[in-house]
Amino acid sequence: MLEKDIERVLYSREDIQKVNQRLGKQITADYQGKNPLLIGILKGAIVFMTDLIREIDLHVEIDFMDVSSYGAETISSGEVKIIKDLDTSVKGRDIIIIEDIVDTGRTLNYLMAILKTRQANSIKVCTLMDKPSRRIVPVHSDYVGMEVPNEFVVGYGLDYAERYRNMGTIGVLKPEIYSGK
Ligand code: PRP
Ligand code: MN
Ligand code: MG
Repeated sequence: MLEKDIERVLYSREDIQKVNQRLGKQITADYQGKNPLLIGILKGAIVFMTDLIREIDLHVEIDFMDVSSYGAETISSGEVKIIKDLDTSVKGRDIIIIEDIVDTGRTLNYLMAILKTRQANSIKVCTLMDKPSRRIVPVHSDYVGMEVPNEFVVGYGLDYAERYRNMGTIGVLKPEIYSGK
């Protein structure tokens, strides 16, 4: 039903699973003997995060933050604010920010600025997708699943007007979906 609105599938369920396995192995190797705190950025990161953590063979803790910049629009307003803060103290912790996509970089830049003031032992970023062609603010991601072209992608946590987050694949919507049928 959802996939009938998709013009082109970019990543199948199998593609995504392979990426998650690779990232999970890298994080497992890099954090041996540590107990990282994974911070999922609501809402887009939840689907990726729930799959990724099951590919990490370590004791990890999870927490969530919600920051907002987009609203129902597909174009960034450039404004970012905290909607929900962490429940956990990050002081002395090894934290990994989990994102579904880094686009202009504004969300990640803002998160880094906040978290850097909270005395974490280390801060790294893991994003499923990176869209470097759209970057406005320079940001660094330590773990990147895949680089995506400059197209509006949905599925696997990513929405258009809050829809399609529950689609198992990642794809590009048909133009008529945007133009209102
Ligand atoms: C999307 C995405 C990233 C952010 C990336 O979230 O999930 O968090 O935008 O864009 P940027 O690099 O231009 O800041 P959004 O604000 O749409 O909220 P959502 O995750 O709840 O969909
Ligand atoms: Mn998001
Ligand atoms: Mg969104």
